[in-house]
Amino acid sequence: MIPQEIIRRKRDGAELAAEEIAAFISALSSEEISESQAAAFAMAVFFRGMSPEETVALTLAMRDSGDVLDWRDAGRPVADKHSTGGVGDNVSLMLAPIAAACGLAVPMISGRGLGHTGGTLDKLQSIPGYDIAPGDALFRKTVAEAGCAIIGQTADLAPADRRLYAIRDVTATVESVPLITASILSKKLAAGLETLVLDVKLGNGAFMESLDEAETLARSLVEVANRAGVRTSALLTDMNQPLADAAGNALEIWNCVEFLKGKKVGTRLDTVVFALAVEMLVQAGLYPDARAAEAAARDALAGGQAMEVFARMVHLLGGPADFVDRPEVYLQTAPVVLPVLAAEDGWLSACSTREVGLAVIELGGGRKRATDTIDHRVGIDGILPLGSKVSKGEPIAFVHASDRDAGEQMAARLAGCFTLADRPPAPPPVVLRKIG
Ligand code: URA
Repeated sequence: MIPQEIIRRKRDGAELAAEEIAAFISALSSEEISESQAAAFAMAVFFRGMSPEETVALTLAMRDSGDVLDWRDAGRPVADKHSTGGVGDNVSLMLAPIAAACGLAVPMISGRGLGHTGGTLDKLQSIPGYDIAPGDALFRKTVAEAGCAIIGQTADLAPADRRLYAIRDVTATVESVPLITASILSKKLAAGLETLVLDVKLGNGAFMESLDEAETLARSLVEVANRAGVRTSALLTDMNQPLADAAGNALEIWNCVEFLKGKKVGTRLDTVVFALAVEMLVQAGLYPDARAAEAAARDALAGGQAMEVFARMVHLLGGPADFVDRPEVYLQTAPVVLPVLAAEDGWLSACSTREVGLAVIELGGGRKRATDTIDHRVGIDGILPLGSKVSKGEPIAFVHASDRDAGEQMAARLAGCFTLADRPPAPPPVVLRKIG
């Protein structure tokens, strides 16, 4: 295999054979290919694209660059969900326990914050003792005993993606549908799933802003995953406002515990969690239709079984045994909490969601550089949904900050992220479309 020949063929728009892609990715993993060659390959793919066949070959080659987990002894259908990322998107924290309480095994490999979006792992690390890198034996024990385990990507899972992603990150080649597809799916396929549900976000707080872009990505992910042998569908969901009423690490864990106690029923978050739960349960064949699946998922929440699963997962992975009973003892709180005040009377009609995500990072709740440590206490909560009526001087949200100056500055900045109108806006849709 001569790397520059493969790069040249892709540069000139040829369709690469599966063997060529496999050889290139194998050499990428063993570092026989230089960073500049990998970057040139990524840029050629960025401009020339890939056929579905090439994308499947790339995905499988990246999956096979490391360990592929085997859950044949799980005794239940093995399923997962992946979100393309948003603000206040803590769905995984509730969805995995609900799905597990209804009979699925959910070994969920999650990520850290990316760009303006929060990361599930960063949120979980607000819980003292919670181990996001438990090793294979404890990961398996947790899935067996709790039904789900949410952990980080291990060094041995799709290492070719780790190398290529790091190179894409610094060579302006992230936003390529085949490269994103192969990157996301290689990790999910390596986790050994039977079925997968994708939550593809769209709107001003998502990476894909328009319906067309989100649909193109969703169709690519669904087609490639199904061809690679994992039964997959996608929901396109709205990200034109934070999904939960909180954004920030400990605040989203707090929100999750409230959700599992049944205090968020009827919210947009509730709609998305249950839409995905229904999709997971029907797709895995556990329930015959959406109605039966929704009834089971709602029972698992109302009856406390989902909360028990979450509590068991947290404890097995090193967190406190009584975490869900006394989250106030364990979750650190910020010293300063200030309201974000409405500047006039009106209805909340729009939110600059990306700015809200960036505000969390600015407060210290996310990273500006890969080496930054996170302040888990800070963020925003009590965020009113679009369509809420407010009077001048009433709070739209609350800023949790590490000091008064930072809090005051951010409260003023966040007030500008919300648009007030003199009539109520049309209620925004939550789940827009299903693909697959
Ligand atoms: N998330 C991933 O894992 N990979 C991408 O390329 C983009 C988002």
